Amino acid sequence: MTAAASGAPSVDDRPERNDSSERDDGPEQTVRICTVINDAEHTEDVPVRMHVADFLRQRLGLTGTHVGCEQGVCGMCTVIVDGEAVKGCLMLACQLDGRSVRTVEGLAHDDQLDDLQNAFSTHHALQCGFCTPGFLMTATALSYQGGCPDRHAITEEISGVLCRCTGYAPIVAAIEDYFANRKDGPSE
Ligand code: FES
Ligand code: FES
Repeated sequence: MTAAASGAPSVDDRPERNDSSERDDGPEQTVRICTVINDAEHTEDVPVRMHVADFLRQRLGLTGTHVGCEQGVCGMCTVIVDGEAVKGCLMLACQLDGRSVRTVEGLAHDDQLDDLQNAFSTHHALQCGFCTPGFLMTATALSYQGGCPDRHAITEEISGVLCRCTGYAPIVAAIEDYFANRKDGPSE
């Protein structure tokens, strides 16, 4: 049976396919935000669909925050927002308005590594550089909770950061060592 005989529209009768890749949505809407990044205030107009990791990397040049899966799985984009570990690919930059962010660039002070970074160095837990910031920021956020987490709590916490090429033993040892020797409290 032909299309005409069945009553279905012929190919020529069908409306043109709406291809979103060719659609002109006009300029992307932006929102002004005021946020504190590593103790410095920033006021920026950000596209409403830009996520935090892209904002940090592209707007502020803070390229220590990496982008891997962009689906909240790999943890490469982990930063701390108001004291909690956040996947930067799952949060919009416009949501940073009025909030405080710490990235891996904010850990060292006066070119001196902080205690957690030193523990990573001591235990050879600094690995490829792509995953390390995610581990550091996740462990730093854990330190803000206070107390001294045991090995199980540490492994649970860092399970949200995926290293695809090596073991986690030096990383866990470094974090354990850091908590065992920590003298000060949360230091954000
Ligand atoms: S890039 Fe954000 S979790 Fe993978
Ligand atoms: S992903 Fe960084 S060492 Fe494997």
